[in-house]
Amino acid sequence: MNGAIFFSGKYGSTEQYANWIGEATGLPVFDIKDPNADPSKYDYLILGSSILFFKLSNRKWVSANLSKLKGRSKILFSVSGAGPSDKLNRWVANSLPSELFSQMEHVALRGRLDHSKVSWWVRLLLLIGSLINPDPKASKEERNGFDYVDKESIEPILKLVRQSKHREVPA
Ligand SMILES: Cc1cc2nc3c(=O)[nH]c(=O)nc-3n(C[C@H](O)[C@H](O)[C@H](O)COP(=O)(O)O)c2cc1C
Repeated sequence: MNGAIFFSGKYGSTEQYANWIGEATGLPVFDIKDPNADPSKYDYLILGSSILFFKLSNRKWVSANLSKLKGRSKILFSVSGAGPSDKLNRWVANSLPSELFSQMEHVALRGRLDHSKVSWWVRLLLLIGSLINPDPKASKEERNGFDYVDKESIEPILKLVRQSKHREVPA
């Protein structure tokens, strides 16, 4: 299978998941900031993106590469503080052109927030966010950080990759 993984993250958890998926599948892993990250060279794409401020962080790259992404098999994994929910699905759907989102399988993974790794102004924004967040658990996590990174949670992605291999028509 001619596939590759393209990830976008800032604090390391999306990259960690991308590398775990790369190790398990043998697919090459690209940071979308890498100028050699060219999705048109592959027919099977795994896109990984963190969620920052209710949006996918890869959305601009997706728009810039839309013609290369359309028509290719795609899995999207999002990495966020929030767990799988309608709210998260809305954030993801609203970050992407609808015609592209409808062509993707989406798997929601959970990330990590380590306050010692973010700048003072992000800490301040998180503190303000925690004060106005109506969800007490999410509010506490914004204030104190969290770590939900879990290697086993990539299993649904590996399953989708295995299924797509079985769908391949032998040459
Ligand atoms: C500035 C900032 C904004 C964030 N906004 C959200 C958000 O809107 N929703 C959410 O579920 N998680 C949010 N998170 C949590 C991130 O999605 C989580 O930390 C993720 O693991 C980051 O991925 P990365 O380590 O690859 O950068 C935010 C984190 C930061 C630092």
